[in-house]
Amino acid sequence: YPSDKIRNFSIIAHVDHGKSTLADRLLELTGTIKKGHGQPQYLDKLQVERERGITVKAQTATMFHTHNFLGSDTNFLLNLIDTPGHVDFSYEVSRSLAACQGALLVVDAAQGVQAQTVANFYLAFESNLTVIPVINKIDQPTADPDRVKEQLKSMFDLDPNDALLTSAKTGLGLEKVLPAVIERIPPPPGKCTSPLRMLLLDSYYDEYKGVICHVAVVDGSITKGDKISSAATGRSYEILDVGIMHPELTPTGILLTGQVGYIVTGMRSTKEARIGDTLHHSRSHVEPLPGFKAAKHMVFSGLYPADGSDFEALNHAIERLTCNDASVSVTKESSQALGMGFRCGFLGLLHMDVFHQRLEQEHEAHVISTVPTVPYIFEYSDGSKVIVQNPASLPSDPKHRLTACMEPTVIATIIMPSEYVGAVITLCSDRRGEQLEYSFIDSQRAFMKYRLPLREIVVDFYNELKSITSGYASFDYEEAEYQASDLVKLDILLNGQPVDAMATIVHRSKAPRVGRELVDKLKKFIDRQMFEITIQAAIGSKIIARETLSALRKNVLAKCYGGDVTRKRKLLEKQKEGKKRMKRVGSVDIPQEAFHELLKVG
Ligand code: GTP
Repeated sequence: YPSDKIRNFSIIAHVDHGKSTLADRLLELTGTIKKGHGQPQYLDKLQVERERGITVKAQTATMFHTHNFLGSDTNFLLNLIDTPGHVDFSYEVSRSLAACQGALLVVDAAQGVQAQTVANFYLAFESNLTVIPVINKIDQPTADPDRVKEQLKSMFDLDPNDALLTSAKTGLGLEKVLPAVIERIPPPPGKCTSPLRMLLLDSYYDEYKGVICHVAVVDGSITKGDKISSAATGRSYEILDVGIMHPELTPTGILLTGQVGYIVTGMRSTKEARIGDTLHHSRSHVEPLPGFKAAKHMVFSGLYPADGSDFEALNHAIERLTCNDASVSVTKESSQALGMGFRCGFLGLLHMDVFHQRLEQEHEAHVISTVPTVPYIFEYSDGSKVIVQNPASLPSDPKHRLTACMEPTVIATIIMPSEYVGAVITLCSDRRGEQLEYSFIDSQRAFMKYRLPLREIVVDFYNELKSITSGYASFDYEEAEYQASDLVKLDILLNGQPVDAMATIVHRSKAPRVGRELVDKLKKFIDRQMFEITIQAAIGSKIIARETLSALRKNVLAKCYGGDVTRKRKLLEKQKEGKKRMKRVGSVDIPQEAFHELLKVG
C-alpha cells in the first residue's frame, strides 16, 4: 500500500458516547472481526476495561476497505487507533493522535457536547488533525442531533453539514463513516525515499514473544532482519518480527511509510521501549521526531502488602504490571506502621484505582493503599526545595522552618445543565476554586472554567459533582502551574503515637474539618480492643480532634453459652479471618477497610 492509499485515524469522544461500540462496528464492517463474535468491544482487552466499561489503554487495529475513489474501486488500508475517554488518560489520547492525520469526534445525540468532548477536540485541533464530527446514538428517543450540530458550530466552529449521523447500536448511518475517513482525512505525509523514522507509540510484554512495540512508520520502511537503533538510548536491535494488528498480530515482514504496526526486537523489558522515541536504521542518522509530552504523575499513594510477609509477592506483581503500564512510577519506601512497600505515581485517581484493581485481579495481590497525595513543593529557610510525594517524609517539627509551600493546580472544564450552576459554584468555592470563565453553550447548558488545587479534585470531587448534578455534569481538567498555599501536615496519633501511613497534607483552613472526619472514621472502623485507644489528629504538637475507643470487656467466646461447639468454632474462625485483614500498628489492630475509608476524606 503506497501512502496515498493509507489513512490513519482515531476516534475521540466523551466517556460513554460510543467510541468502542463504533470501533467494533467498523471492524465488523470491514470483516476484520466477525459479526457477533461474542465479545463486545474488541479493542477493550483488559478485564478492568470490560468490567468498568471504560477504555484504559489505547489499542490499534488495521482494516482493509474498498472505496470508489476518483471513479475507480480502490483498496485502502485504514489504521484505527482507539483512545481512552477518561480524563486521567488524556496522555494516552495525545499519544494516539501523534500517529493520526484525522479523528472522528463522537458526540452522543442526546447528551451533546461534554467536558471531554471539549478537551479531546482541542487535543486533535492542536495536532492539526482533520476532525469529522459523528453524532451517535440517534436511535435514542431523546436524541436531538440539531441541537448537537448547533453546539459543534458554536463551540468548535465545525460546519453542521459535515456531521455524520449514526447509531452504532442499530447500524444506521455507519456506511458513511469510512468513505468520509477516506475522502476527508489526508494520507500520512511521510516520504518513502527518506531514511527510516519510526515513532514508538506503545509497548507491552507478551509471554511468548517478549516485548512488542506498536510503531508508526513516518518515513522510509522497515523489513524483518533490519538493524535499528533508538534515538533516545542509542541501543541497537534486530527486527525479529514485524507486521500489522489485524486485529491480532499478523506478520507481514515489512511496514511501509505511513503504516502503523508492531515490531518484535528482543528487548528484554518495556523499560527499554521509551514511548515517543524515534527508531531509525542503525546505519543512518536522522533528526528525531517531536515525540510527545511525558506522562506527568498527578497522584501518589503508598502501596503495602496487606499481609506483611507478602512483600516479595507484591514486588513481583507490581513489576509484572508496570511492564504493561509504563505510566506508573514506582519507588520502594518503608513505613513504620506498614513495613516495606512502594510509593507509586499515577496519572489520576481512576488510573490509581484501575492499577489497584488489576493488582488484585490479575496478580492476586492484596494491598493497603495510603491516602493519595499530590506532589507539593516545599521551600526551607536554607534555600533548599523538595518535592514531597509522601506526607510522612515531611517533619511535623515546627523548628523546620518553611519559607514557602506550593501546590499544583488544574484548569477544570465543567459543563452542566443551567439549573445546576448554583450547586456547582458552591462546590467549586468549597474546594478553593477560582472561576475563570462562565458562559452558555446553548439555551440549556452552561460552561465553566475553574482553577482548582489538584488536591481538591483528587479526593472525591468527581463523585460529588455527579451527585449534586444528578449525574448531568461532565468534567475534565488539564494541569496548570503551582500556586503558593498555606499547607500543614496533619498527623494521626493512636495512643499518642503518630501513624506515618495516615499523615496527610491539607490546607490550613481545612485542617479542623479533615482532622475531625479522619478521627470519626477511624473510631467507626477500628474495633474495640482489650485496652482503651485514643485517636487524635494533630498539627505539630497541637491536637485538633480527639476520640476515645473504650476497652472491650468481654472476649469473643463469652457470647457462647458454654456447650455449642460449632458456634464456638465459627466464632473463632470469624475472628481469625478478621485478623488476616488487620494491620497491627503499635499495639492497635487496624482493619484494611479503615485505610480504605480514609481515602475518601477530603
Ligand atoms: P469508553 O470506552 O469508556 O471511553 O466509552 P465509549 O465511548 O467507548 O462507549 P461505549 O462504546 O462503551 O458505549 C457506551 C454505551 O453506549 C454502551 O452501553 C453502548 O452499548 C451504548 N451505545 C453505543 N452506541 C450506541 C448507539 O448508537 N445507540 C444506543 N442507544 N446506545 C449506544
